[in-house]
Amino acid sequence: MRPRHPAAIMIPSFRSSVHDHTTRVSENRDLGGSHFLLTLEAEPIAVSARPGHFVMLRFDGCLDPLLPRPMSVCNVLPPGGGHPGRIQILHKVVGKGTARLSTLKPGERLQVLGPLGRPFETPASGEGGSLAVMVAGGIGVAIFPLLVPQLKRAGYESVLLFGARSSRDLVHRDWFARQGVPVRTATEDGSEGRRGLVTELLGETLASRTSVGPIYACGPRAMLQAVSGVANAAGKPTWLSLESYMGCGIGACLGCVTRVRRERTWAYQRICVEGPTFSSTEVLWE
Ligand SMILES: Cc1cc2nc3c(=O)[nH]c(=O)nc-3n(C[C@H](O)[C@H](O)[C@H](O)COP(=O)(O)OP(=O)(O)OC[C@H]3O[C@@H](n4cnc5c(N)ncnc54)[C@H](O)[C@@H]3O)c2cc1C
Ligand code: FES
Repeated sequence: MRPRHPAAIMIPSFRSSVHDHTTRVSENRDLGGSHFLLTLEAEPIAVSARPGHFVMLRFDGCLDPLLPRPMSVCNVLPPGGGHPGRIQILHKVVGKGTARLSTLKPGERLQVLGPLGRPFETPASGEGGSLAVMVAGGIGVAIFPLLVPQLKRAGYESVLLFGARSSRDLVHRDWFARQGVPVRTATEDGSEGRRGLVTELLGETLASRTSVGPIYACGPRAMLQAVSGVANAAGKPTWLSLESYMGCGIGACLGCVTRVRRERTWAYQRICVEGPTFSSTEVLWE
């Protein structure tokens, strides 16, 4: 399916093309525990998406919900089997928009704007034996599949440290295992892996390996703050993907600002444009 009204907007600071694309659902797989893996035919976005990018999803010809919903680009699939390039969105049903996403059937349409935001800083090539660490909290894991091949190409070993409330939220971890990425889990209720917080696993990993870095983290704000504390104390280069309510996703409404450190002062930055990825040393948490 070709885009009906392909539009490209240039965001000069990142030199990336943003497409407003009418996509066709090719699959919407129920992964259990209110999680879904949605596959959309979205060739232009699949071509330009980088790890850490997100898209804004809105329902074709529908005013409820009115505002688009931000979702990370979980993965891209190359053209093949009669399909153009596709993107995958891993989401959890938490309210009206995600409930509607979960009911989409193959062949239905969804309006997608993206790729948006500043992607993760990724290493060009790895130091021998270095371990790149991905730290996920709950549905924050959705951001990492696109990062895995990039880390591999750069010569890094990688590990996923995955924390969640309970085992039913440890979604999509088999995907990482199939890529040869070890997964260590922590759950708050002790239903799987370590009983406790994922930051404990991060502390252990940093203590057990001399050559660790970079670290990437995505999850609830409190988790990201805790990851920053551990990673900054160890002096490791760390990239966080922040979440926020988003009205527009393109820097116009100022509804998503967060405070960041600047030389001897601080500034507001828009999570949708200057983020969602930030260095752990620049985010101000209070
Ligand atoms: C850059 C970015 C990437 C994201 N990627 C993903 C992803 O890959 N997969 C995924 O499942 N979700 C992701 N999210 C979160 C997702 O956008 C929200 O869960 C979704 O918009 C909720 O819409 P809703 O209509 O279902 O819920 P609503 O009816 O709007 O809200 C339901 C509940 O969720 C809470 N909530 C809604 N949005 C947020 C938010 N942004 N932060 C914290 N709490 C919120 C509300 O307070 C409320 O309690 C991302 C958010 C951002 C900003
Ligand atoms: S969501 Fe509108 S400025 Fe970020």
